[in-house]
Amino acid sequence: MVAPEYNPEDAEVENPLRPKCLSDYIGQEKVKENLSIFIEAAKQRKESLDHVLLYGPPGLGKTTLAGIIANELGVNLRITSGPAIEKPGDLAAILTNLNPGDVLFIDEVHRLPRTVEEILYPAMEDYAIDIITGKGQMAASYHLPLPKFTLVGATTRAGQLSAPLRDRFGVVLRLELYSPQELAKIVERSAGILGIKIEADGALEIASRSRGTPRIANRMLKRVRDFAQMMTNGVITYESAKLGLDRMEVDEIGLDANDRRMLRTMIEYYNGGPVGLDTLAAAIGEEAITLEDVYEPYLMQIGFLARTPRGRVATKAAYLHLGITPPESDTDDNQQKLF
Ligand code: ADE
Repeated sequence: MVAPEYNPEDAEVENPLRPKCLSDYIGQEKVKENLSIFIEAAKQRKESLDHVLLYGPPGLGKTTLAGIIANELGVNLRITSGPAIEKPGDLAAILTNLNPGDVLFIDEVHRLPRTVEEILYPAMEDYAIDIITGKGQMAASYHLPLPKFTLVGATTRAGQLSAPLRDRFGVVLRLELYSPQELAKIVERSAGILGIKIEADGALEIASRSRGTPRIANRMLKRVRDFAQMMTNGVITYESAKLGLDRMEVDEIGLDANDRRMLRTMIEYYNGGPVGLDTLAAAIGEEAITLEDVYEPYLMQIGFLARTPRGRVATKAAYLHLGITPPESDTDDNQQKLF
């Protein structure tokens, strides 16, 4: 329920919910302010917008923003992803089919194969690609001019990107986790679009348990609607939201069974840490990258987990939330190591 990764089930609910213009997009105020200036300036000059890199945890609206950028510029949006482009020829086919000014959105841009990345550099910089076909005497090189386009790349962490690729983005925007108040507005907006009746404290309850992520909030809204339909005449109240979320084992602050298992493992097996990421991942049977991208951003935002040079540390707040007494000396020791 709280996995922020895209799930095909979200498509149905996410698409009508996706805002089409910046003014309908809730939150990310700094990103919106800057983006609106860059878009207006490019439009005034009748130029294509510089390439944009969006980075931040999954589920915060990177694809939505790419759609808004295209819509505000009045151009087409083409969506693909790093792992889907296997060969330079695949990218060449996409690029040569763009219209001038179009937006090409590449999700998980850090997962582009190296060979593809290399033809992307001149495409981004000079709007041209050089393709070599055949081998030996049959080899031929083609210089293909491209329409001026805007690449919008998305990644969970800018650090995963190769330096030459990162340097070719003129606009780099970091998306932050949303506040419960912003998420409550998103939930109310989505409920309005889906024709769901919801009370303000019902929306806030869903928002508070959505770990800062609109994709999770919208998914929970859909599930809580089912509980409300069966239990409170279809209106989402504080009680029906609480009941639905409790049943789905999402606690009052949005932690699910996996988050709690991770914290418990740190506390019970590793004395609260420091414990290395790979060790922790192996202990709970997850991949290290999943811990880093999915679990950790929210646990760090709420101050339950800290990253230190020697490994991850569970904070006193995490102990208290799980109802475990923090061992005074140990936890103090850990906290001191942090500062
Ligand atoms: N739906 C998903 N993300 C949203 C956002 N930031 N604003 C409005 N609706 C959304």
